Amino acid sequence: MIKDRILTGERPTGPLHLGHYVGTLKSRLELQDRIETFILSADLQAITDNIKNPEKVRNNVFQVIQDNIAVGIDPQKVTFFIQSQIPEIAELTMYFMNLVTHSEVIKNPTVKTEIKEKKFGSSTPFGFVAYPVSQAADIMIVRANTVPVGDDQKPMIELARIIARRFNKTYMKEVFPEVKGIYSEVGRLVGTDGNSKMSKSLGNTIYLIDDTQTVHEKVMKMYTDPNRIRATDPGKVEGNPVFIYHDIFNPNQEEVDDLKKRYKEGKVGDVEVKEKLSRAINNFLEPIRERRSKYPIDIVKDIAFEGTKRTKKEAQETIEIVRDVMKLNYK
Ligand code: TRP
Repeated sequence: MIKDRILTGERPTGPLHLGHYVGTLKSRLELQDRIETFILSADLQAITDNIKNPEKVRNNVFQVIQDNIAVGIDPQKVTFFIQSQIPEIAELTMYFMNLVTHSEVIKNPTVKTEIKEKKFGSSTPFGFVAYPVSQAADIMIVRANTVPVGDDQKPMIELARIIARRFNKTYMKEVFPEVKGIYSEVGRLVGTDGNSKMSKSLGNTIYLIDDTQTVHEKVMKMYTDPNRIRATDPGKVEGNPVFIYHDIFNPNQEEVDDLKKRYKEGKVGDVEVKEKLSRAINNFLEPIRERRSKYPIDIVKDIAFEGTKRTKKEAQETIEIVRDVMKLNYK
């Protein structure tokens, strides 16, 4: 039986937000005690659409690791590493490129949406289109079989499965495991503006690093039921961003039920609903703020360098096997 192993991570392009928490951080927290976990700061993937912003990527490499630790991912249990410092990943990407077809790569729906959002048009970097292949190499370099990610990453997981399977079949050796994605049961968190996705580029985020006042201001500006003009109008709770957030972040079920009931009857104003939500989110963020203060960036750096060293050993082992089966082991 193969031992389970997790590989997951994010692009260091900005601080992590509540959408990341719902989409992946929460499952990482639950899984870290049971399954050996590797988390990467995917700076090379971030570069695929930030070729002219190396500073931005660099500045966020340790920030995203700090965000993970602040949420409660335990650096004693989990190995954090920096993608670019493991060149074996780039090497494996080169090999993997030949195990997928051009049409398989370009049909990726997540990448297609991103290309539209970023308005790349005819200037889409080739590396950007290819990043799902390097993402498969991220996973396979440590031969992980479990990947907790947001549901927008489903096509990437599928591609990793296909590549691993083809590799094993082509070289007639079970080098890579069968990968499975683990997706949040709540799905994707809507943005504060009700857009289907919370995202920095859409400007509808609440960051884990936001202070009390910032959270309050963002919540007070949140979208609610667009058809409800006055507090006395009966409102809709389903699909209403403030109630979606209440359901996730407010542990006081009685308060949530009461607010929903009065909202539907037109007996509560948006201000009260939002003030209670702001309090709930700030309560949720409080222990995260406290843990963050115990892990300043210098300590986070040491954790990342230490983890990168550990990962490097694993990566070298994998690459050695890969070169062996691909007959690239000249001696
Ligand atoms: N593409 C992921 C994101 O945008 C980040 C990522 C890079 C990743 N490599 C990975 C996630 C490997 C899981 C496994 O969030």
